[in-house]
Amino acid sequence: MDLSPARIIQLGVGFWGPKTLLSAIELGVFSALAGGPLDLGSLRERIGLHPRSARDFFDALVALDLLERQDGRYANTPETERFLDRAKPTYVGDYLEMINTRLYDFWGGLTEALRTGEPQNEIKRGGELFSVLYRDPVRLKQFLQAMTGYSLGTAQAMAQKFPWQQYQTFIDIGCAQGCVPVQVALAHPHLSGGGFDLPAVGPIFTEYVASFRLEDRLRFHPGDFFQDPMPQAEVLALGRVLHDWNLAEKQQLLAKAYAALPRGGALIVYESLIDDARRQHASGLLMSLNMLIETQAGFDFTGADCCGWMQEVGFHRTYVEHLDGPDSMAVGIKE
Ligand SMILES: C[S@@+](CC[C@H](N)C(=O)[O-])C[C@H]1O[C@@H](n2cnc3c(N)ncnc32)[C@H](O)[C@@H]1O
Repeated sequence: MDLSPARIIQLGVGFWGPKTLLSAIELGVFSALAGGPLDLGSLRERIGLHPRSARDFFDALVALDLLERQDGRYANTPETERFLDRAKPTYVGDYLEMINTRLYDFWGGLTEALRTGEPQNEIKRGGELFSVLYRDPVRLKQFLQAMTGYSLGTAQAMAQKFPWQQYQTFIDIGCAQGCVPVQVALAHPHLSGGGFDLPAVGPIFTEYVASFRLEDRLRFHPGDFFQDPMPQAEVLALGRVLHDWNLAEKQQLLAKAYAALPRGGALIVYESLIDDARRQHASGLLMSLNMLIETQAGFDFTGADCCGWMQEVGFHRTYVEHLDGPDSMAVGIKE
């Protein structure tokens, strides 16, 4: 069979579709349609688009399965109605808003990052990612909310797939707004615990937890995981934390988690774990390139890598299980 260049060309222009989605979220298309279908003129005016762009933009969203069109009126699909209407608690667009405002431009520096090994984000102007981001309270909140948008499906899967009935206490280390502790606590009323993160995160965690009326069971533990010991609980989690750091720092965090657990305790590492052969899981590999853009020395890793590091610091039993979308968990049991 003759080879065709079509797949390569499509991949090369593949960013057009994602950028169309990101702009639609930025412009509030899906929130505008949450009130019901609108015709071309009404939707165009509501969003504030130029007449030249509107029809192709909305029809491209139809072709991308992000809108429906019937009798000339545009409507959300069930998916965009649930997840991209800003007014709903199920909104996950915070994460994609951050992709649009930060990462879309930073990825323009990928070639430079590949040549130099240097990050291409705010760090370029000096500093470490979290200290730079957290200097500004607005960006701090945006980043923490974005983490919730990104981790919601994974948190719900973790609440279902981990054997929580065997444990009473749980703390998420590097918890951001508290998405994982909240979903686990909602699904398991017998559990208590909370989240550990840098002190600046505390008020945003507390406000989020209170919005679910979980403040009696979930508490914020302020600290720096490189300077301070980790808080004690029967289950600790480290999610999208290890990939921010170099190998020695990863090993240091795993050793600290091991030290904080009782015998019989468990550590859950949740990340976009790369497949062991490093051939198939493009999302995990691209996430690792994202860490090249975003961090000084971070990188993603396979389930086998993670289980090996866990065993080196003392964990006896380890296993890997898929969670949701690109994410899996590597679990280590301390015996
Ligand atoms: C990428 S976010 C992951 C958030 C959450 N686990 C999730 O997956 O949605 C990394 C988290 O690590 C926290 N963090 C970074 N450096 C830290 C430090 N030195 N001590 C404690 N937490 C830190 C950040 O504040 C942030 O909330």
